[in-house]
Amino acid sequence: MNASKKNVALQAIDLLKTKLYPEMILGIGTGSTVNAFIDNIDQIANYFSAAVSSSNASTSLLRDKGINVLDLNDVNEIHFYIDGADEVDPNNFLIKGGGGAHSKEKIIASASNEFICLVDESKRVSELGSFPLPIEVLPMSRSLVSRTIVSMGGVPIYRNGFITDHQNHIIDVTGLDFSDPSDLEKKLNAIPGVIDNGVFARNKPDLVIFPKD
Ligand code: A5P
Repeated sequence: MNASKKNVALQAIDLLKTKLYPEMILGIGTGSTVNAFIDNIDQIANYFSAAVSSSNASTSLLRDKGINVLDLNDVNEIHFYIDGADEVDPNNFLIKGGGGAHSKEKIIASASNEFICLVDESKRVSELGSFPLPIEVLPMSRSLVSRTIVSMGGVPIYRNGFITDHQNHIIDVTGLDFSDPSDLEKKLNAIPGVIDNGVFARNKPDLVIFPKD
């Protein structure tokens, strides 16, 4: 286990110990940092009621730990959402989706009262955009969306062989203008066939936890 990921995961666990109560619902993201959190979730398993998960992978890990995983449709409120990121800028805007789970992650983040993001120092950037931006698309619209992205100055690469939990495709894009992440997030989501893109501006975290000694 990467020490930085474990460090931020344990900070989040300690923080939640002070905030959780038995009726609470936790939203759980996806990725290796979240896996470190799930590895240690036994410490707070009795402090909350159930989880809503952003991916089949996280659902499986949570169930292995004996955590009750609910469908978002069966939940009225998510108190905290825990997830990692691929890039974090000084405004706490994110790029996510390296694992291809960002659409569901954004839905759960938007449904949560507080988003706590766990990252190591390698994720901190002055401006978003070095990490290729993942865009989930309906398979039939992949080429159409890619052509529109080229017209916006982007360079789309099809994530060949990767299928999301919802049977969709991912295009990873470099070269876009990230000077206004909120505007870019909206513009990309307005392209027909796009499910969601990995810019988290509207649903940015309330708290970002970096490793500490
Ligand atoms: C999953 O699709 C992503 O949004 C992850 O949250 C992000 O890629 C961070 O993953 P790691 O914790 O593995 O770096």
